[in-house]
Amino acid sequence: MKAIVTFILMVALALGHGASSAAPRTNGGFMGFCAFQGAKLADGHWLGAYCLYDVSTWSYSYTWIDLDHCLANNGGELISWEDGAFSGSCNDCSIANTSTTLHLTCACWDPQGQKKLSSTIDLNTALHDAGGCAGCFSHTGNMSWEGP
Ligand SMILES: *[C@@H]1O[C@H](CO)[C@@H](O)[C@H](O)[C@H]1NC(C)=O
Ligand SMILES: *[C@@H]1O[C@H](CO)[C@@H](O)[C@H](O)[C@H]1NC(C)=O
Repeated sequence: MKAIVTFILMVALALGHGASSAAPRTNGGFMGFCAFQGAKLADGHWLGAYCLYDVSTWSYSYTWIDLDHCLANNGGELISWEDGAFSGSCNDCSIANTSTTLHLTCACWDPQGQKKLSSTIDLNTALHDAGGCAGCFSHTGNMSWEGP
């Protein structure tokens, strides 16, 4: 029994190692691996950014992700929420960087639908880098080698 467990562990380690050396990629925090230089917002809900593809060569790819998969309008406040489709009730969106992160600011309808409230979310709390693509929850953006 012990031998079988050891064997399974060795196979798992070998598979894990094989996958990571075949395609060394980054996974994790958005601002740790994506750059706000070159970031763009299109149609109010598509975010484009350079994200680190391969940490061993520091190569970046450009990625577009539909933030409607990532954010919701919670009564006038932008929150991280899978398939929240925030752009249905938020507009006038813009992105701005601080020295360490990228913020999205929009005007979002309040719960009564009577007035719009300004709301800002730190995109580092909502997105990650999945191998050169920006991602959120189970969604990943697309990838191209050249920026726009
Ligand atoms: C970051 O924001 C500052 C203003 O706060 C701006 O001057 C600068 O150009 C921005 N950098 C990038 C790469 O967008
Ligand atoms: C990625 O998606 C954006 C937005 O839909 C599109 O403009 C762009 O052409 C796509 N790029 C690739 C490489 O598929």
